[in-house]
Amino acid sequence: MLKLENVIAGYGRTRILHGVNMNVPKGGLVALLGGNGTGKSTTLKSIVGLVAVQEGEVILDGKVINAVPPEQRVSHRLSMVPQGKEVFGAMSVEENLLMGAFHRRKDRREIAEDLEGVYRRFKRLKDRRAVSAGLLSGGERQMLSIGRSLMARPSVLLLDEPSAALAPRVVEEIAEAILDLRSLGLTLLLVEQNVGMALDIADYIYVIRGGRIAYEREVGSGIAMDELQEFYLGGDKH
Ligand SMILES: Nc1ncnc2c1ncn2[C@@H]1O[C@H](COP(=O)(O)OP(=O)(O)O)[C@@H](O)[C@H]1O
Ligand SMILES: [Mg+2]
Repeated sequence: MLKLENVIAGYGRTRILHGVNMNVPKGGLVALLGGNGTGKSTTLKSIVGLVAVQEGEVILDGKVINAVPPEQRVSHRLSMVPQGKEVFGAMSVEENLLMGAFHRRKDRREIAEDLEGVYRRFKRLKDRRAVSAGLLSGGERQMLSIGRSLMARPSVLLLDEPSAALAPRVVEEIAEAILDLRSLGLTLLLVEQNVGMALDIADYIYVIRGGRIAYEREVGSGIAMDELQEFYLGGDKH
């Protein structure tokens, strides 16, 4: 469904990704792990078009989308929940959610349905629909950020560190919400630093280091934690 083939990308002349290969099958839940500054966000940004791909291909449903502008990738049902739980703090929860449907603002009935869908999934957002987003807790902001992406009706959803800086109980809620989305048939690519959470829910993992995929394995095939740690934490052996 979503494929990266030898993707080289970066900022200006600086190359950050040095030939990334990944495959996210339809309906799959794939995790991309790695330490700080290894290129995880850059990978997601190159998929949604916020970072220009210098070489290689981003392929969605068999089509190379390198040249498709970011706003059109949303219409291609590709949506990203950015790192940092960013919300429009001065706007209400509901206004934030409606922003996610901005590109199809004429489909009023569909939008009302989708809004109800998000509220069913995240009941706390419904209770707080009229509250300024700036007043939400970290967990609620993450839910709002996911909800806003869902308002774009994606078939592929990219999540950038949704569990960061959240209490364990809230991380569990977020993990359940992600599994729930998967059961609806969404294709998911999850960037995480929380290895435990990723291994709990993903079916395949990649570890990125220095802009290259250093390790990949199917979850459940007996991933050796010490091996994973070694690739994850670094050292210059690889
Ligand atoms: N907008 C930017 N301009 C220049 N360099 C950047 C920018 N964003 C990230 N970088 C650099 O790219 C590298 C990878 O960043 P990033 O993909 O955000 O890492 P991760 O998400 O894995 O923590 C880092 O060295 C970072 O400093
Ligand atoms: Mg990042």
